[in-house]
Amino acid sequence: MSNFRMPNDPWKRRKLPPGGDPSLSDTLHSSFGNSAFVITPEDGRQSFHPLSICRAGRPAYGNRTMSAPIYDRRSFVKLSIAAGAAAAATPAAMAQDASFSLPKLPYALDALEPHIDAKTMEIHHGKHHQAYIDNLNKAITANDFLKGKTLEAIVGGLPAVKDEALRTTLRNQGGGHWNHSFFWEIMAPAGKGGEASAELAAAIKSAFGSMDDLKKAFNEAATKRFGSGWAWLIVQDKKLKVVSTANQDNPLMKEIIPDADFGTPVLGLDVWEHAYYLHYQNKRPDYIAAWWNVVNWKEADKRFKAAMA
Ligand SMILES: [Fe+2]
Repeated sequence: MSNFRMPNDPWKRRKLPPGGDPSLSDTLHSSFGNSAFVITPEDGRQSFHPLSICRAGRPAYGNRTMSAPIYDRRSFVKLSIAAGAAAAATPAAMAQDASFSLPKLPYALDALEPHIDAKTMEIHHGKHHQAYIDNLNKAITANDFLKGKTLEAIVGGLPAVKDEALRTTLRNQGGGHWNHSFFWEIMAPAGKGGEASAELAAAIKSAFGSMDDLKKAFNEAATKRFGSGWAWLIVQDKKLKVVSTANQDNPLMKEIIPDADFGTPVLGLDVWEHAYYLHYQNKRPDYIAAWWNVVNWKEADKRFKAAMA
């Protein structure tokens, strides 16, 4: 008989708030990336979103160095006008201080079921993601030098932020905003996400041997990520690679994450408990396995080709 025994079920003893985990109150975690300035038609507010969300930004997404700001406000406005996608960008709206806002999901809350349930999506998107944005906006409001900066300029400039507490806030809240915006886009209802293109499939075969081998490597990274974090498929030096980051760090965070993890995200999986606990409880591997059913390969393919351009 073993000398060891489980004193109590640790999961039952945890007092998780409605929605899963205590991350809403956390102030850590981070990243940055391709973002663009947009005007939300509904309320005329300015906001920044990953280019995958900002349709007007898509044409210029590729062939960019992810570690560098892609657009300043002026250049993006030009792009938006050219694309006819910023009809709501009135001079009055443009004059407002920049603030980030929650991007709409590109599908219904229940569209990813049964793999990701509607309640999890509702809380994850409406509460957790919103909290990152709210906290980021608070930091901007309290620091004039941040006003008007793009998301990538804020988070990409983290090493230059002298105030450690502020740097941590920007890293975590900015990262949370970028990562979740990316996450919604990289998923699609089962059967609607298409398949990897011939080019992407060939790159997967070259890097991993097969799609199954990619999934095996990715699942292992996602499963072994201790605590909260993300698993990623990235393009690094024109090759695909699987990496994992802690908290809200991501592969775009040069000088924040190890150089070995730096690259352009093609896929990303949130393995924070808030992403799966309601439905899967402690069975993270089941959530990871189910997630492959809702991967948006069309979106992944666009990101892959942009990174390879
Ligand atoms: Fe999350």
